[in-house]
Amino acid sequence: MDCSMICSMLLIFIASAFSVFVPNGSVSERKGSSAVLPCGLTPALNAKMFDLRWYKNDYNNPVLLYKDLKVQENPGDAQYRGRVSLIGELDKGNVSLRLENLTLADGGEYVCFVKSDIWYEKASVNLIVRGKMLNFCLALSRAGNQTLRASLVFFSLFGMKTCPHIGPLWVRLDITAP
Ligand SMILES: *[C@@H]1O[C@H](CO)[C@@H](O)[C@H](O)[C@H]1NC(C)=O
Ligand SMILES: *[C@@H]1O[C@H](CO)[C@@H](O)[C@H](O)[C@H]1NC(C)=O
Ligand SMILES: *[C@@H]1O[C@H](CO)[C@@H](O)[C@H](O)[C@H]1NC(C)=O
Ligand SMILES: *[C@@H]1O[C@H](CO)[C@@H](O)[C@H](O)[C@H]1NC(C)=O
Repeated sequence: MDCSMICSMLLIFIASAFSVFVPNGSVSERKGSSAVLPCGLTPALNAKMFDLRWYKNDYNNPVLLYKDLKVQENPGDAQYRGRVSLIGELDKGNVSLRLENLTLADGGEYVCFVKSDIWYEKASVNLIVRGKMLNFCLALSRAGNQTLRASLVFFSLFGMKTCPHIGPLWVRLDITAP
């Protein structure tokens, strides 16, 4: 083979290469909410014809598998069934994963693996699942000259920003539940 042939093959090969990037190496969300694990291709190639695989610990037991132009049903880990989807624009190289109804067991490192006919690349995102926030509002009042009496009045699972200012002095207490 002469150089022009090798060189043009090399050029085609380089033109089809891509890298996988995760804008944020770590994503933190609360238990019960949903998380987006961002992942994209550079250059922003159309990923519709590629194989996309998100997996946690085991390549062969993926969280989500996109192949033959569609997301495969029941690809692997039953723990994720019905809770995962691709939310980005595949044709713009966005292969981000959405994971719903987070459990504490979902925490860990996820690998975004993208494969074309001639190339593959991967990158990983760490998902941190935090416990639910419990907010308590305490009403403080003076019992005598020296003592403060605290009475537990109100609590919420959903993250109250402020306490209702009905009483004399209200204090918010945040506790992260497991
Ligand atoms: C990356 O993570 C940091 C800290 O968790 C957050 O403040 C920031 O908004 C994130 N950036 C993107 C692009 O998601
Ligand atoms: C997520 O949780 C909500 C409320 O608990 C439930 O209605 C919904 O079906 C769940 N979705 C999935 C995909 O598990
Ligand atoms: C992909 O799309 C999602 C949803 O529109 C967006 O949140 C995310 O930032 C995008 N990520 C990349 C890498 O382009
Ligand atoms: C509170 O303390 C002050 C002095 O510090 C005293 O004069 C007053 O009698 C006390 N009142 C009560 C209700 O104990």
